[in-house]
Amino acid sequence: MNSPFKGGRVYCGSIREEDIGKKVTVCGWVARARDLGGLIFVDMRDREGIAQCVFDQTVNGGLFEEALKLRSEYTASITGTVRQRSSINDKIPTGRVEILAESVKIFTPSETTPFEILDDVSVNDALRLKYRYLDLRRPSLQKALALRHKTTQIARNYFDSQGFLEIETPVLTKSTPEGARDYLVPSRVHPGEFYALPQSPQQYKQLLMISGFDRYFQIARCFRDEDLRYDRQPEFTQIDLEMSFADIDDVIEVNEGFLQKVFKDTIGVDVPLPIPRMSYKEAMDRYGSDKPDTRFEMELHDITGIAKDCGFSVFEGAVQSGIVTAICVKKGGSLSRKEIDALGEYVKTYKAKGLAWVKLASDGAMTSSFAKFLKEGKLEEIKSAVGAENGDLILCVADGERELAQNALGALRCHVAKKMGIIPENTFKFLWVVDFPLFEYGEDDDGNTRLYAKHHPFTAPKDEDIPLFETRPQDMRAKAYDIVLNGTELGGGSIRIHQSDIQQKMFSALGFTKEDTEERFGHLLTAFKYGAPPHGGLAYGLDRLVMWLAGTENIRDVIAFPKVQNASDLMMDCPSPVDEKQLRDLSIKLDLKKDK
Ligand code: AMO
Ligand code: AMP
Repeated sequence: MNSPFKGGRVYCGSIREEDIGKKVTVCGWVARARDLGGLIFVDMRDREGIAQCVFDQTVNGGLFEEALKLRSEYTASITGTVRQRSSINDKIPTGRVEILAESVKIFTPSETTPFEILDDVSVNDALRLKYRYLDLRRPSLQKALALRHKTTQIARNYFDSQGFLEIETPVLTKSTPEGARDYLVPSRVHPGEFYALPQSPQQYKQLLMISGFDRYFQIARCFRDEDLRYDRQPEFTQIDLEMSFADIDDVIEVNEGFLQKVFKDTIGVDVPLPIPRMSYKEAMDRYGSDKPDTRFEMELHDITGIAKDCGFSVFEGAVQSGIVTAICVKKGGSLSRKEIDALGEYVKTYKAKGLAWVKLASDGAMTSSFAKFLKEGKLEEIKSAVGAENGDLILCVADGERELAQNALGALRCHVAKKMGIIPENTFKFLWVVDFPLFEYGEDDDGNTRLYAKHHPFTAPKDEDIPLFETRPQDMRAKAYDIVLNGTELGGGSIRIHQSDIQQKMFSALGFTKEDTEERFGHLLTAFKYGAPPHGGLAYGLDRLVMWLAGTENIRDVIAFPKVQNASDLMMDCPSPVDEKQLRDLSIKLDLKKDK
């Protein structure tokens, strides 16, 4: 057994057969106490696992009175000698041994907990999170947080070994755009002024490059006021890094080394290098996603060419400016009409106007939502373009907006794959997605369409696309890359703009006036005037990385004290109102709507 303690204390979960005969002390929580007359069995739990302790009246009757007081979740220490168990339990690592108690000390009692401290007990989430400190006693959460610790430890060691310096950057800062709303902190000494919590350390790390710290990393807290999802929290952690005199290949190489190391040293998974790269365009065309899940095929087929003059007005209408795209669901012919209708509803949540389908029964019978409109031979052309055979299901989305159709069908592809159970388990498919567009169209608060930076406004355009700033900015490509794992974005980064004039062009393409730019980013533009090295970097979502390592689908499982959907912390009960006096000190007057 490995023990960090002096004086014979060991972790409950660490005792093994080779320890038989040793005298040990365990400290922890009573997981279970059973009184069998002359014998009392007490399972003691700590972060490493469970040890069975036995009080035997014939051996040590004097302890019995105290031992009988032990109840679930009491804290106690028990000292005794390790011996072989009579009934072996190979389900737990300590299941071949037990501790024959020689002394016991109760530290504190416990009230009955609001739920049992077990992994497979069904409790509603709100109750769990209200008593998160109890929830965290569950073995799976103890394991997940230990894994998170190990991951950051590996990151620190790895980036240190590659010459990166860990440097902290401020949390009270100025807004840096990453696409979400800022969390603001009012200043007392500057009434009416606010700090923003960082959405990422982006500008600071770039400024550190200008300062000469040519390889920087940080385990950085980031704050984004955005809609929460299963893999998103309002505060989360990045493994953030930046390198000077580096191009895309340099950033990718260092990071491939990290991914290989972290997957091997935590869960023993080999990541074959180099990780394949795919352009954004190819990813959208083949998978309908900028983060394709390449664990399974079911690729998108562009059938716009066939759809032209096909006779079906919905398809023909999309041809001019958009696309008709299709997937073939192998064996999908077994889905019922009701199930197919549900798929139609599913794509509508991605703004598709509908889903056209062809169902091929295994005996060759065909049913379809649109085949009756098709001209002679067109159905055969579609079938052969998507590689459909008897028993398969063809699903098509047509839209005048190419990416809308692709995104909707790409989402459906993953949805159907999950439903049909064709995604292989325990498979880790990494992919670099590169050559992102520099800009994307989006709506501002007034409902006007304008250009937004696809990554962030500091991302460099591809050199050959720089002349397009003035003519066709929407066609510009960026020196940006995302690392994708099994269809999720694990991290992303880019080579940055390091020249004042190009940065200016970028800001003006984004619609910032000269005054706006000066006010928000003057410090960066000035810094670029004093010798800015070419530089680039990347940030991982640490939480998302640990989710994959831990094999969980919920980001809350890898965060000690997570927030719920509406961004509140149910345990601390925050956000919460503050005293009048605190508000007065901050020169803040509330103007709340009545119904709040
Ligand atoms: P980006 O905005 O892509 O890039 O963020 C990097 C990674 O952070 C993770 N992430 C999140 N994780 C949990 N909850 C959230 N709300 C959340 N938002 C983002 C994702 C994402 O890939 N400064 C740039 C990086 C760079 O260019 O170097 C940035 O922040 O895994
Ligand atoms: P309708 O003639 O409107 O009943 O449409 C016939 C079929 O086309 C239905 O299955 C619709 O769901 C489908 N459909 C409608 N719009 C689209 C679209 N934009 N892309 C794909 N299929 C569509």
